[in-house]
Amino acid sequence: MALQLGDTVPNFTQASSEGEINFYDWAGDSWVVLFSHPADYTPVCTTELGTVASLQSEFQKRNVKTIALSVDDVESHKGWIGDINETQNTTVNYPILADGDRTVADLYGMIHPNSLNNLTVRSVFIIDPNKKLRLTITYPASTGRNFDEILRVIDSLQLTDYHQVATPANWQDGDDCVVVPSIPTEEAKQKFPKGVTEIKPYLRMTPQPNK
Ligand code: BEZ
Repeated sequence: MALQLGDTVPNFTQASSEGEINFYDWAGDSWVVLFSHPADYTPVCTTELGTVASLQSEFQKRNVKTIALSVDDVESHKGWIGDINETQNTTVNYPILADGDRTVADLYGMIHPNSLNNLTVRSVFIIDPNKKLRLTITYPASTGRNFDEILRVIDSLQLTDYHQVATPANWQDGDDCVVVPSIPTEEAKQKFPKGVTEIKPYLRMTPQPNK
C-alpha cells in the first residue's frame, strides 16, 4: 500500500553522489525533504536541483536536510551536478540518490508507470525528526515544483508542532494563525498572550506566535 501521512517512513541504504547513505543515520534529528525527479541532464530537473541548492540556507534555518533521487547512476549525477552549478549559478551541496535498482522508488511509490514508464515522477516527501511522513506531493514530469511552497508547508508544520497553531488558506509567514480546535478559547487566551480573536467558537485567530 502507498505510504500515507503519519506513517513511519521506511529506512534504506542506497548509493548517492556523496557516498552510500543509510537514510535514518543520515537524517539524524533533522526534518527531511526527499524529492525525486525523472532523469539527469534534463531541463526542468536542472532548474529544480539548482533552486534547492540556492535555498539551502532557508532549509538549514528550519533544521531541514534535502536529498534528491533519480534512477541514474552516481557518475551521471556527478557529471550533471557540474552542469547544474554552472547553469544555475549555485553549488549543489546535498546528496542525489542513485536509485538504479529502484530500491527507494519502490519503497516510496515514486514510479507511476501510466505517467512515466520506468522513471521516477516528481514526488516530494516531508519527513519529521521522528521519521513520520508529514506531506506528499506528486507533480508531473513537465512541471517544475515550487520550493517556496515546500518551505511554507515546513513553516506551517513546525508552527503546529512547536506552537499549537494551524495556518489558514494562502497563509504566508507573518500572517495570523488559526488556534487548533483542541484548545478551548479560555485556555487559548492564556496560551497566546498576543491575543485571540473569536470569529466563531470554532474559528479563532491569533498573531503568529514565533514572530
Ligand atoms: C525535464 O526535467 O525537463 C523533463 C523530464 C522528463 C520529462 C519532461 C521534462
